[in-house]
Amino acid sequence: MILQSITTICAIGVIAGSSLTLDRPSAGSDTPGAASVPSEMIARGKTVFDIGCSPCHGLEGAGDGPLSANFRTRPRDLTKGVYKSRSTASGQLPTDDDIDRAISAGIHTSTMPPYLKMSPDDRAAVVQYLKTLAVRFTDSTEYPLEVLTFNQPIPATPQSIALGRAAYIKMQCDNCHGAFGKGDGVSSELQHDDFGNYVHTTDLTNASDFKFAQSAQDVYRIFSTGMNGSPMPSYAGTLQDSDRWHLANYVWGLHGGER
Ligand code: HEC
Ligand code: HEC
Repeated sequence: MILQSITTICAIGVIAGSSLTLDRPSAGSDTPGAASVPSEMIARGKTVFDIGCSPCHGLEGAGDGPLSANFRTRPRDLTKGVYKSRSTASGQLPTDDDIDRAISAGIHTSTMPPYLKMSPDDRAAVVQYLKTLAVRFTDSTEYPLEVLTFNQPIPATPQSIALGRAAYIKMQCDNCHGAFGKGDGVSSELQHDDFGNYVHTTDLTNASDFKFAQSAQDVYRIFSTGMNGSPMPSYAGTLQDSDRWHLANYVWGLHGGER
């Protein structure tokens, strides 16, 4: 199922040494729409959304809630179905787990709070409700999703970090993130996302500057899949698996590996 669609997803290419299979399958994540989701679950998700999310994201999810006006980074227009933090190939929809992760962890450096204390049932319901807001989720041509599998991580030894540093330069991450990761590369200014927000190029030496990543594995995932709708590209097809772990170790080590 996954392999069949590789040819149609040029952006991700074939990840050397890493198969493209679901690592944590969750119901509905690679099937179109919310067709199989009980209507009570959608109704519950709508209640959660209307109360907790619509003040920012707007009642229709278009990112135009009453609180949104003065935010530097505007709440996402969820009707577009464009998600920055995913485990799926560049340009693809997110899995349910990806959406759930963004809600639980929030988006650090933006106004989007973490919903760690929301009950798992409410979170699962709001995930399904979000999928009804964007028509992309009902389009069967968007499926199946290609989900990244994480092979065994490589320990962050000095040797791995040195190899990661070499990959960082070879892949020209420094163009945007700067020679030493401070977010001051030649192309770091005037970056915007597809929603018209100015996006600051992440200072990789500052733990507080990451929006999503909370581990070297998250770094591996994010530069592999890219951030849809954002200038941050996907590097899935361009680096072999071991080099991607070295690079993740280097990047995560730039701020001491803690947050
Ligand atoms: C205080 C405002 C605020 C509230 C409340 C809020 N969000 Fe957000 N949300 C944002 C902003 C701002 C962004 C865009 C961040 C960015 O692009 O950097 C965002 C982005 C998102 C994304 C995109 C994640 C991705 O990978 O790109 C999802 C999904 C989301 N919000 C869901 C929710 C849900 C569900 C709720 C309620 C449970 C909620 N938000 C409540 C402000 C908010
Ligand atoms: C064209 C410019 C550009 C290049 C090249 C680039 N990045 Fe980025 N990167 C960005 C921008 C802009 C953001 C912030 C995006 C946002 O907030 O929407 C970002 C964000 C990130 C993040 C932070 C994710 C988070 O949790 O917030 C990581 C990690 C990252 N980049 C790693 C890399 C690595 C590693 C490379 C090279 C393989 C690379 N980037 C190449 C522009 C770039």
